[in-house]
Amino acid sequence: MHTVAIQRRRHGAVTLLLVAAAVVLLSAAAQTAAAHRPRGCGVTSKYVRKHQASEDMPLDADVFAVPPGRNAPQQVHIGLADQTGTSMFVSWVTVEAEGNSTVLYGLAADKLDLAAEGTITRYTYYNYTSGYIHHATLTNLQHGTRYHYAVGVGVGDTVRAFWFTTPPAPGPDVPLRLGLIGDLGQTADSNSTLAHYESHQGDAVLFVGDLSYADKHPLHDNNRWDTWGRFAERSVAYQPWVWTTGNHEVDFAPELGELAPFKPFTHRYPTPWKASQSSEPYWYSVKLGPAHIIVLSSYSAFGKYTPQYKWVEAELKRVDREVTPWLFISTHVPWYNSNNFHYMEGEPMRAQLEKMAVDARVDAVFAGHVHAYERTHRYSNIKYNVTDGKCTPIADRRAPVYVVIGDGGNVEGLADELTWPQPAYSAFREYSFGHAVLDIKNRTHAYYAWYRNHDGNKVTADTMWFTNRYHMPNHDDSMTMITAKAAC
Ligand SMILES: [Fe+2]
Repeated sequence: MHTVAIQRRRHGAVTLLLVAAAVVLLSAAAQTAAAHRPRGCGVTSKYVRKHQASEDMPLDADVFAVPPGRNAPQQVHIGLADQTGTSMFVSWVTVEAEGNSTVLYGLAADKLDLAAEGTITRYTYYNYTSGYIHHATLTNLQHGTRYHYAVGVGVGDTVRAFWFTTPPAPGPDVPLRLGLIGDLGQTADSNSTLAHYESHQGDAVLFVGDLSYADKHPLHDNNRWDTWGRFAERSVAYQPWVWTTGNHEVDFAPELGELAPFKPFTHRYPTPWKASQSSEPYWYSVKLGPAHIIVLSSYSAFGKYTPQYKWVEAELKRVDREVTPWLFISTHVPWYNSNNFHYMEGEPMRAQLEKMAVDARVDAVFAGHVHAYERTHRYSNIKYNVTDGKCTPIADRRAPVYVVIGDGGNVEGLADELTWPQPAYSAFREYSFGHAVLDIKNRTHAYYAWYRNHDGNKVTADTMWFTNRYHMPNHDDSMTMITAKAAC
């Protein structure tokens, strides 16, 4: 018995030693991991939106009303036809008859002394045939100038008149107010988002993709492209929206015999791709006052040697930060996103293009797709080379801020599953509907705010002062929290 007792004590002592050693080893490993783990400094908003169904507004909703009058032009929208807005597209649809494709325009509502001849296109999509889609190009416009225009002129049809202000000329210290909207759709939340944006009187909207969600309806019911066009007209007829394509623009439906990607979008919403030396309508660039905006296509090839990759490479060399100090990228699928919805879908494009964006000192990358809001600190993840294991994003003042603004309010509802813990790169996140505005003040500073749709009101929920990566490359702007206290 005595010998057995001693052996048991010895076994006990050995076990204790092993446990102690394991604790020391685990502790050391944890300390090492902590040393390599970036310090978290983000906010997950406490705001919880009341759960409501997301349904498209009914076809007889007032925002979809067909304008009265014989063959009245509907779905009127404008857009940049060149990179800076000295040419503008005017597009509209007539349904009863072809009507006239002429746009009359001028510097006063009662003096439309210029004319642009447009063209008409139509398309079919399975059992749908579009109306007559008119596109005209107004040329030789002056920057920063209000033009009045009228469509439906000349053949006894209903004439409708609008106006727009051309973007300011490219220049480093020209103020610019840019709306940021994504994944808008046509629900009551979409309507709130658009109304809230309209209260800002912005110069232009950078739209990060997913317009109508017509493809969520049986047979991709393209009548929902028409309702969306009528809904958005109240803003898009008066200021240019810069279009990014999303997955709901692809409309690839082999089961319906529809094999041409982007068919409804390309017939309806022209982009200035030719003026941008691009080879497709889905990637191009514009220069609005102090901002050079590069629009990318998440659903077109972007690997090395592809047309889009080569174009981005060349386009970044064409950017002149002395003229347009602010450099942005718009793409539908986010490169950084800490929501379980669409988690890591943006990895292929990030892996291909992030280093280019960091090297070019891009100020911000705007994306949608995820139906929530998120803003990052300046982080990059460009060290990884398969064998070195350096695959953790690190704080990097050279890197863009990434903004996910896919929260316009569409039929699919909110992306309400965040990943935990909140990644170190994530500065602020919340799953609500809303929009943002970027107010560029001068070559060094821009004020950014995200507005939540809050019980019918517009509430400022996240703000940041951007400092320019070209003129203030070492300033640590993304750690500055104005409205939210970070748990650093
Ligand atoms: Fe999307």
